[in-house]
Amino acid sequence: MQTKIRIENLTVRYSDGTESLRGISLELYANQINVLFGPSGGGKSTLLRTLNRLNDQADVVTQTGRVLLDDEDIMAPGYDVIRLRRRVGIVFARPVPLPMTIYQNITYGLELAGIRDRQRLDTAAERSLKQAALWDEVGNRLHDPAHALSGGQQQRLCLARSLALQPEVILLDEPTSGLDPISTGKVEQTLQDLKATYTIVIVPHSIQQAARVADWAAFFLQGELVECGPRDQMFTNPSDKRTDEYITGRFG
Ligand SMILES: Nc1ncnc2c1ncn2[C@@H]1O[C@H](COP(=O)(O)OP(=O)(O)O)[C@@H](O)[C@H]1O
Ligand SMILES: [Mg+2]
Repeated sequence: MQTKIRIENLTVRYSDGTESLRGISLELYANQINVLFGPSGGGKSTLLRTLNRLNDQADVVTQTGRVLLDDEDIMAPGYDVIRLRRRVGIVFARPVPLPMTIYQNITYGLELAGIRDRQRLDTAAERSLKQAALWDEVGNRLHDPAHALSGGQQQRLCLARSLALQPEVILLDEPTSGLDPISTGKVEQTLQDLKATYTIVIVPHSIQQAARVADWAAFFLQGELVECGPRDQMFTNPSDKRTDEYITGRFG
């Protein structure tokens, strides 16, 4: 497996003194679904925000250690955060489409990046909606308002919006927590299709989803990385007692 992101001894502390990650070292792999799971408060969202440098705006006071994306230290002073966010896209739990049409939601980021050519924008919209498994449902009504879509469709639209920028890594923080089982299944299937091209890092909304989608999984507990490994090992034969207790439902 090819390492895409290497996290070395990462500690993140908020201004109120909360240490939400303590000395985490972890590798995330290209063309895999990398799952970060564990009970609430474990530091999973904090880690995703670090990978996209979104903690810069949060109440984080200290962040030590290194995060390497293809061997570039993304926390280095002067690192180009705009370029980072083009390479690493993020999708949150609640889909937030822009108050525009379906088409404009996809092309907005590209236009901001200076692309004006209608043909290119059309191609990008079709490509990313197909990748997000939404084209069949919206291809004939691209100029309808995005808000008219169902929750499941809005979430795939948000995924398509990230994909339009052709990132290398896609971070997803509980992307299906508000969705019905059918929409959830569609998003999970989409991720399986996308991993051929991208590095996927997902915080699932349940242990069941973690076990369904993971190729590789890391278990977080109160700021600590307890263990990580391939799916079969993590969900059938974990090496740490705490992982075992969590996946068998003894706490969480
Ligand atoms: N902006 C913040 N200020 C202070 N503490 C925070 C902030 N965001 C998260 N935390 C704390 O950091 C810890 C990890 O939170 P989080 O990364 O959201 O975990 P998870 O996503 O695994 O539930 C928790 O104790 C949480 O209360
Ligand atoms: Mg979270």
